[in-house]
Amino acid sequence: MRLSRYFLPVLKETPAEAQIASHRLMLRAGMIKQASAGIYSWLPLGLKVLRNIERIVNEEQERAGHVPLLMPTLQGADLWRESGRYDAYGEEMLRIKDRQGREMLYGPTNEEMITDIFRSYVSSYKDLPLTLYHIQWKFRDEMRPRFGVMRGREFLMKDGYNFDLDYEAAMVAYDRHMVSYLRTYERMGLQAIPMRADSGPIGGEDTHEFLVLAETGESEVFYDSAILDLKLADRAVDYDDAAQLASIRSEWTTPYARTDETHDEGVFAEVPEERRRTSRGIEVGQIFYFGTKYSEPLGAMVANEKGERVPVHMGSHGIGVSRLLGAIIEASHDDKGIIWPEGVTPFHVGIVNLRQGDAACDAACAEIEAQVAAKGLEPLYDDRDERAGAKFATMDLIGLPWRITVGPRGIAAGKVELTSRRTGESEEMTVEEAVTRLAAIYAGH
Ligand SMILES: Nc1ncnc2c1ncn2[C@@H]1O[C@H](COP(=O)(O)OP(=O)(O)O)[C@@H](O)[C@H]1O
Ligand SMILES: [Mg+2]
Repeated sequence: MRLSRYFLPVLKETPAEAQIASHRLMLRAGMIKQASAGIYSWLPLGLKVLRNIERIVNEEQERAGHVPLLMPTLQGADLWRESGRYDAYGEEMLRIKDRQGREMLYGPTNEEMITDIFRSYVSSYKDLPLTLYHIQWKFRDEMRPRFGVMRGREFLMKDGYNFDLDYEAAMVAYDRHMVSYLRTYERMGLQAIPMRADSGPIGGEDTHEFLVLAETGESEVFYDSAILDLKLADRAVDYDDAAQLASIRSEWTTPYARTDETHDEGVFAEVPEERRRTSRGIEVGQIFYFGTKYSEPLGAMVANEKGERVPVHMGSHGIGVSRLLGAIIEASHDDKGIIWPEGVTPFHVGIVNLRQGDAACDAACAEIEAQVAAKGLEPLYDDRDERAGAKFATMDLIGLPWRITVGPRGIAAGKVELTSRRTGESEEMTVEEAVTRLAAIYAGH
């Protein structure tokens, strides 16, 4: 992509309405535009990151054996009457009437609809375990939408639902979700800590929220700093090995980590004092086991091995896909702009031509573009006729982790400069060396 042909409406001024860094930076970097309160258009740069996050979520869900489908955003009210939630859900649900006067709603979540799909087709334990998920827009009429995509009214969520024969099998599904979520966040360059949570309006017995530490987070969190040392890294995970999944779950849930809703001073006091931390966090996901809460009222039954019809045990598991953009930026930025982790960056490398129109510089940039693309990477080439300072400022703002700078003096010596956005360090090297280095950096992503 060449910047002269792209649509990247960066803002010079800091928008007054944005109170936190991620919201300010997403507006300034031309990633989103507010359409109405808590509802956003995703401009090209924002959409690229959103799609990358979706891709990682999909890959990790499919790796765990979970099956994607797609349910609609609009739902009929009747299913929600069956579960008893149509009246219980309250003002956050956007209710709509179609021209026939039928009551509809814009889905805030999909437990009822997925349970209806399940009961329509599955009737035997032999078809279990089954976990279905989708990535779909949700609407919740939040009282105070704020912080941009962090607390929107319309937002993109991955929500998955497991169907299992009994409690033990549902716990294996719980562990699978825990592990797949840990992998998902790690690939995005995030440390998200599973914290014991309250079951809230969905209702459940076992639930963890995943929180990214950030001063601007909405939840107060209390944790044992030992949990910060835990990494899956390249550990081999076998999703058919229930014992391994359970041991990873217990590794991550043994150190104290709770939000203000479940915090217990007495238990916290047992953590060695030098490891006790209080901070704030952003909830980027949550997993729930809720047993037969929906399968009973909706009649999602299967025949067990003895031929008895029993309600399936279920759980629901969500990742805040659009919120993750905000969370990643809160965790990774500086005063010049965003610093994308390699796993989600909208372009792999920025190319800055310091002397646009100079034959040697232009040719070198075109050559880099071609070589980078040949490695399967996507460059963003700033080919505008702008001052060097302005080009650097744009690249720093939009946060591509790597930049190749091409100038007349370097080119005369056969060299370009490769710069890390994170450290600011630059190194001179040939075009071939720079491209080889980039390919190696991105090989793991
Ligand atoms: N209003 C919102 N805007 C953006 N993301 C949201 C919003 N509400 C929830 N999410 C994301 O979706 C995930 C799953 O939602 P859920 O746990 O059902 O929501 P909540 O915690 O608000 O009850 C949350 O962990 C969060 O990351
Ligand atoms: Mg939640």
